[in-house]
Amino acid sequence: MPHIAPRSMRDILLRSPVMPILTVHDAHTAGDLAQALVKGGVMVFEVVKRTPATIAALHAMCEAAPEADIGMGTLMTPEDVTTAIQAGAKFGVSPGLTAELAQAIQAHQFPFLPGVATASEVMQARAFGLKELKYFPAQGVAGAAWIKDMAGVFPDVLFCPTGGIRPPDIPTYLSLSNCRTVGGSWVVPPELLKDRAWHEITALAQQASGFRAP
Ligand code: 3PG
Repeated sequence: MPHIAPRSMRDILLRSPVMPILTVHDAHTAGDLAQALVKGGVMVFEVVKRTPATIAALHAMCEAAPEADIGMGTLMTPEDVTTAIQAGAKFGVSPGLTAELAQAIQAHQFPFLPGVATASEVMQARAFGLKELKYFPAQGVAGAAWIKDMAGVFPDVLFCPTGGIRPPDIPTYLSLSNCRTVGGSWVVPPELLKDRAWHEITALAQQASGFRAP
């Protein structure tokens, strides 16, 4: 397999207007899931570290879809960062940020998307050199208006909102200069994954990858 140089967090986000957020309970279906997403044009997705199958699933997905940038989400501790890297994740995601987590990220030079919901949290993340930030929980806080308000004070930050975002919300987010990607679990509904409905998942992935900034 040819060596592919790792991308920065910003370059990873710029690959995809929608980043599916996946909860995988059965690692045996993970490779097929990754291929169904890639077939639909989705090249960036996050597998949350919330089930016992996450690590085996990530391994299987990286093997089945080496062209994709697959991240591990819900990283909370420095040990989680090591776990994600060892599992083959190309990037990490967290609902928030601690100094310990930021130091682990810096030590490993690991592309990382920490969560923020206030201007103070943006400032803390920037102090650690982190300028690609997840705005979470986007729909549960102030939505696209918050991201728009941040553009003037933090012109160097790119936000990826997640939490409660559905397809009709996406054009508003992508119309903002500081938002090029939104995250969401709607691309892979649990019932379709359970039924191994790969064609339907590919159709949703096509819908997701078809969104464009105006
Ligand atoms: C998460 O981390 O689980 C996400 O923010 C998903 O949000 P959603 O299920 O509302 O898309």
